[in-house]
Amino acid sequence: MEIMKECWILVMILLLRGSWCFDGCLEHERIALLQLKFEFISSSSSYDMPLWGVNTDCCNWGGVKCNTTTGHVVELSLDFMRRGGDWYLNASLFLPFQQLKNLSLWGNNIAGCIKNEGFERLSVLDNLELLDLSFNHFNNNILSSLSGLSSLKFLYLYENRLKGIINIEGGEELLKLSNLQYLDLGYNNFSINNLSFLNGLSSLKGLYIANIQLKGPFDLKG
Ligand SMILES: *[C@@H]1O[C@H](CO)[C@@H](O)[C@H](O)[C@H]1NC(C)=O
Ligand SMILES: *[C@@H]1O[C@H](CO)[C@@H](O)[C@H](O)[C@H]1NC(C)=O
Ligand SMILES: *[C@@H]1O[C@H](CO)[C@@H](O)[C@H](O)[C@H]1NC(C)=O
Ligand SMILES: *[C@@H]1O[C@H](CO)[C@@H](O)[C@H](O)[C@H]1NC(C)=O
Ligand SMILES: *[C@@H]1O[C@H](CO)[C@@H](O)[C@H](O)[C@H]1NC(C)=O
Repeated sequence: MEIMKECWILVMILLLRGSWCFDGCLEHERIALLQLKFEFISSSSSYDMPLWGVNTDCCNWGGVKCNTTTGHVVELSLDFMRRGGDWYLNASLFLPFQQLKNLSLWGNNIAGCIKNEGFERLSVLDNLELLDLSFNHFNNNILSSLSGLSSLKFLYLYENRLKGIINIEGGEELLKLSNLQYLDLGYNNFSINNLSFLNGLSSLKGLYIANIQLKGPFDLKG
């Protein structure tokens, strides 16, 4: 009799947990993550996506963080997850993550995006604050596709394939990022001969341009 009672209490606790507490990731976001996994794997010679698909709670998968109240995915750190040659990404794959704040895609040999499926698509993600595309193969075209991401505060393009003279080739597109606080353009192959492309970045607090050629004279007014 005593054992029965304890069993009931246990059942009650489990039921309450199930209905009241955070219970893993949202179904449509899990499906979107599996789609992402499929794209990473089918473009790779090998890959490293710890726990992806092994359990149903996608908030425990490697590089995925959820808001513990809403269950929404808020952070995706997909760093060095695929190995293989140049890859053209479909950025629309991130659209299902409506609450996404941080997206990091370090070191995946991404050379650009599929036509009409570039980062400009992500302008509807109002919470997106951090985008880290470092250690990839993006060329200058990436700059114009980022110009509509108005919520961005941190943008990292360290070690990509930007080249030429930035003020002429695309640099001015960054003007629209009025919330941008940190910009990292280090280790690309371009020179900067005119810093006026920074004038429109009204919130900028930090600019990292390690190993970039600067060619003066500079006009630092305004
Ligand atoms: C989780 O989401 C709630 C509701 O949108 C928000 O108030 C809270 O700040 C979020 N928590 C974190 C850690 O982002
Ligand atoms: C890109 O991904 C989205 C979302 O999964 C899909 O609807 C669209 O067809 C894809 N585009 C291409 C060109 O594969
Ligand atoms: C996102 O990145 C910022 C800046 O690096 C960091 O402070 C924050 O903890 C990260 N995670 C989330 C979920 O916002
Ligand atoms: C960088 O650009 C210069 C001049 O355009 C070129 O000669 C050099 O090969 C480039 N270096 C790399 C690593 O692409
Ligand atoms: C820098 O570029 C701006 C706008 O393109 C131009 O008005 C300005 O004269 C240039 N400054 C120098 C020193 O070349």
